Amino acid sequence: MCGIVGFIGSTNVKKTLLDGLKELEYRGYDSAGMAVMQSSKIDSFKAVGKLANLVAKTAPFEPKGFAVGIAHTRWATHGKPTEINAHPHQGRHSYIVHNGIIENYLPIKEELTKQGVGFLSQTDTEVIVHLYESFLTREQDAYRAFEQTIEAIEGAYAILLIDEGVQNTIFFAKKGSPLQIGDGDRGRFFASSDAPLIGICDNAIYLEDGSWGWATAETLSLFVGKTPMTAQKKPLPISQSSAQKEGFRFFMEKEIYEQSKVMSETLMSRVMASGVRLDELPEGFFDGVESLRLCACGTSYHAALAATYLFERLSRIEARAEIASEFHYRDPMLRNNELFIVISQSGETADTLEALKMAKRSGLKTLAICNVDNSSIVREADAALLTRAGIEKGVASTKAFATQTMVLWLLALFIAQKRGALDEEQMTAETNAARRSVKTLMVQPDRHEQIKRLSKRYLHGHGFFFIGRDLFYPLALEGALKLKEISYMHAEGYPAGEMKHGPIALADSKLFTIALMPHTLLREKMRSNVEELIARDTTLLAITSEHFAFADDVLQMDERSHPMLEFFEMMVAIQLLALEIAIRLGNDVDMPRNLAKSVTVE
Ligand code: G6P
Repeated sequence: MCGIVGFIGSTNVKKTLLDGLKELEYRGYDSAGMAVMQSSKIDSFKAVGKLANLVAKTAPFEPKGFAVGIAHTRWATHGKPTEINAHPHQGRHSYIVHNGIIENYLPIKEELTKQGVGFLSQTDTEVIVHLYESFLTREQDAYRAFEQTIEAIEGAYAILLIDEGVQNTIFFAKKGSPLQIGDGDRGRFFASSDAPLIGICDNAIYLEDGSWGWATAETLSLFVGKTPMTAQKKPLPISQSSAQKEGFRFFMEKEIYEQSKVMSETLMSRVMASGVRLDELPEGFFDGVESLRLCACGTSYHAALAATYLFERLSRIEARAEIASEFHYRDPMLRNNELFIVISQSGETADTLEALKMAKRSGLKTLAICNVDNSSIVREADAALLTRAGIEKGVASTKAFATQTMVLWLLALFIAQKRGALDEEQMTAETNAARRSVKTLMVQPDRHEQIKRLSKRYLHGHGFFFIGRDLFYPLALEGALKLKEISYMHAEGYPAGEMKHGPIALADSKLFTIALMPHTLLREKMRSNVEELIARDTTLLAITSEHFAFADDVLQMDERSHPMLEFFEMMVAIQLLALEIAIRLGNDVDMPRNLAKSVTVE
């Protein structure tokens, strides 16, 4: 989704901005732009499509010496992905980049239009720059005008603004969308996530909601409301090496292959011989907790849903999963003794963050399961368990899902321990299985080859159903989501037992059904559901460790000892299937059309 970079310094200003945008590219965008101020002159450039187009546009431009720059990648919300709608947006003498949504932009636009201001774009962002200039005309004080602008806008934003009349300075503001400031050897940097700062700054200031101010190379004025604040720095991760493709065709492929390795990290010092330790959780965190409510979006929601089966079966605690965008606005009934768990790869998903804030306001204890330390969600929650998957760049989430599911499984065991829900033998079986998952997640080259070959038979149907029961139903949802995200083919995940209540009407030889048929759970029931579909001539791919002669194709699995090991082995298979189908269709697997890695608008 939209990304922001800013820089105040003397060397390589253009390259620094472009490199920063490059680091944000994986998040998804459809246009990009930058504005660079030298003395009191601003040059601005915008281009639709890939960053390469902005690189080409800025080729003749090379700022010499000290300059101040702001740059942006845009993922269209208000108005089409055109050059006019790309950021920076400009007034008469100032330029702005913005992430988020200005909810009251229409009344502001009307008011400014009455004052004679002309608008070029269809965006909400453009009102901010005109509003600032309008206040400036009245106040004759840029700092005061910026403050008034921030007071007047509503919604979510991270903003950088430069003005030809205020040399060497970047104005900034943050509410609801992330913004960091880092100081490096070459100058002062701004970014909407860590990625552009890693390797060039050791520390960053993670701006709190409601922060605003202005910065030069030497000074930083920071406020929350009218109160001056002292900036608090936090260390940044040191290396970016994990974010390179390393010979794989796509980041997604690399990240599927990485799952086994990162799972060792996820498990490290958490799984003991006969129990689970979660040292990040404060002593007594679960005291008084009688039920769990899990809330997330997209793939993270599927991890949440899978976890409800684990919590109820292993920990004997009531658990319910919610889609964040639905939960937030339906005036839900909440109980004081519920623990509210949010799950998010990025820690910045607006729907999830808003749900978390609402749960906090209602007085619930909150826990984040997240891949990004220092993210908004981690900072907002009472406690956090990090999934330790490393940077995930493919928009279609893979290793994040695997590690989220593992952390949730460990949490289920941890709660089971507290509640005495499992005996020692059961607990040992669980922890052994958790450890063995590292091996289960390794991609077997032969199987990958088989999936590559198989993929060519699954390109031209009228749709896909992924079916499973119990834990394998959320996995079926995830398989369908992976496939539609990157192949653009219609796919649905369905509880296998529910097919006969409607969807079976679609069954014919051009309907592709991917059946997740574990050995350890509801084997016979699942078999009957699959046979009902075969009888209607659906084309069926069985993913199973069973002997199953009736399917058109079988992906033979090895695991038969534990449902979660079967889950992880099948998960790798469906990830690879989606990947190979999308590659055959010639799609950009890492940056699928219309999608963003981190969705920071509601
Ligand atoms: C976007 C991404 C999905 C992701 C979802 C939730 O829609 O494209 O891959 O699952 O957001 O993201 P989160 O960072 O909160 O897990």
